[in-house]
Amino acid sequence: MKVAPSIIAADFSHYQEELQKIKDAGADCLHLDVMDGVFVPNLTFGPMIVEAIDRVTDMTLWSHLMIMQPEKYLKEYIAAGSDWISFHVEATERVDQCLAYCKQHGVQTGLSINPATPLEQVKHYLPHVDILLIMTVTPGFCGQKFMDDVVPKIQEARQYMIEHGITCSIAVDGGVNRENACTLKKAGTEIVVAGASVFRSHDYAQAIQELRCSKV
Ligand code: DX5
Ligand code: ZN
Repeated sequence: MKVAPSIIAADFSHYQEELQKIKDAGADCLHLDVMDGVFVPNLTFGPMIVEAIDRVTDMTLWSHLMIMQPEKYLKEYIAAGSDWISFHVEATERVDQCLAYCKQHGVQTGLSINPATPLEQVKHYLPHVDILLIMTVTPGFCGQKFMDDVVPKIQEARQYMIEHGITCSIAVDGGVNRENACTLKKAGTEIVVAGASVFRSHDYAQAIQELRCSKV
């Protein structure tokens, strides 16, 4: 499994060192949690910080937009250096427009769904999506408890994609740790986002290796 550490769990007062450490630890890309304080009850950072991070690392930057009306900000987050963008189906009336815009501008396109959102709500978009980001916490903060009852949705998504010949990658985000990583892989997950389980560990490389669940 690919591992995308979530930078909001890092020590931002030493963010350049943290970026170098996480790259050296083998992270596959960097997950940037953008929160507007409206779609989720937390406020993190805007395009300026994405640009600052892009200046100091060559890692793939994955902006997870937990913001209302992402269609208003895609241009800025892409210009700031986002290589992948995930936005929430619950946050916009213009999913098709957002998907098309991301594709036109050459970024990997992700659609994210909250734990309470049924897969039914996004199935028809999946042929046009590179990454389906399934939330296993209610978005807003790192360090939350993994929601086991979302695992069937991962299995349902995998099954649906196999039956319909869809090649979209399944990513899971929220409370991922070494205890649940193998369950997620068996359910069909290809990419895990991890904040606390990586940045609160004393060995980032070991934490990332454990999340890969290579033995399964
Ligand atoms: C939640 C964010 C997640 C979170 C992951 O709103 O989208 O990316 O920061 O952190 P952990 O792995 O600690 O839940
Ligand atoms: Zn995230």
